[in-house]
Amino acid sequence: MRSLIDILDFTPEEINELIDTANDIIAYPDKYCDRCKRKKLATLFFEPSTRTRLSFEAAMMELGGNVLGFSEAQSSSSAKGESVADTAKTVSCYADIIAMRHPKEGAPLVAAMNASIPVINAGDGGHNHPTQTLTDLLTISREVGRLSDFTIGFCGDLKFGRTVHSLITALSRYAGIKVILISPEELKLPSYVRKDVLDKNAIPYVETSSLESVMGELDVLYMTRVQRERFFNEEDYLRLKDSYILTPEKLESAKERLCIMHPLPRVNEISTAIDSDPRAAYFRQVNYGKYIRMALILKLLSEAGRI
Ligand code: CP
Repeated sequence: MRSLIDILDFTPEEINELIDTANDIIAYPDKYCDRCKRKKLATLFFEPSTRTRLSFEAAMMELGGNVLGFSEAQSSSSAKGESVADTAKTVSCYADIIAMRHPKEGAPLVAAMNASIPVINAGDGGHNHPTQTLTDLLTISREVGRLSDFTIGFCGDLKFGRTVHSLITALSRYAGIKVILISPEELKLPSYVRKDVLDKNAIPYVETSSLESVMGELDVLYMTRVQRERFFNEEDYLRLKDSYILTPEKLESAKERLCIMHPLPRVNEISTAIDSDPRAAYFRQVNYGKYIRMALILKLLSEAGRI
């Protein structure tokens, strides 16, 4: 049974096909409005979410299907001690496809190993967030016009930011990508991502703590939130939370065609004064997330022989 747990589960060709389908859905939504009629998506969210859960639900509804599920662990039988494996087996009796978010790294993989329907990782701990990565790739392809030959700066919490880890991994398969890692010392990219992804694929990268010093080089700026929920103590979070705040002044040296992205939610790291700047792509990015998830649901249900 085909699932999506890690972005590398899909080849670059498959990702290109998903992007093509998403673009076709954006252009011709009526063509897709009953492709998942009588099919059910289960959203099993053991951690908070606005965009991922609601975009999955909107995606299935726009495909003519239905949704069921829960949005917090406490309202499911995991609060009574049920395992992820048993939850996956149970939900396989009710739904055609699962989207799961879980605070424990690897939980969606355990679900996929036990479910008899496709499982989509909707974010596992500080590990991976492959559907955000698909969203990000669609955003870059639409906003920058290509998925190769650009410089991308990742700024903020590169240690705990699972969207950063997944996107760097995905971009390692495209040509001409230069990565600039902008973070405080304590929130640097984990060495396993640096070694296993950047070094292994000979991706050129630099590390700096100064956003201003590299702003003019960037084609894409990927801002991130400092992940309060992953810190061991509140004092460290409070010290680091406002390390980077993007303001109009800081954009003075930026390229005219810079694409500013953020997986959201935003806390304080992008001034709302930037929202009206045409380079601010983060709410368009939110919208693209629904279309790429529609394409993903279609692919996995089709491969499972359910549509
Ligand atoms: N980008 C993202 O995963 O947002 P949510 O946590 O709101 O789903």
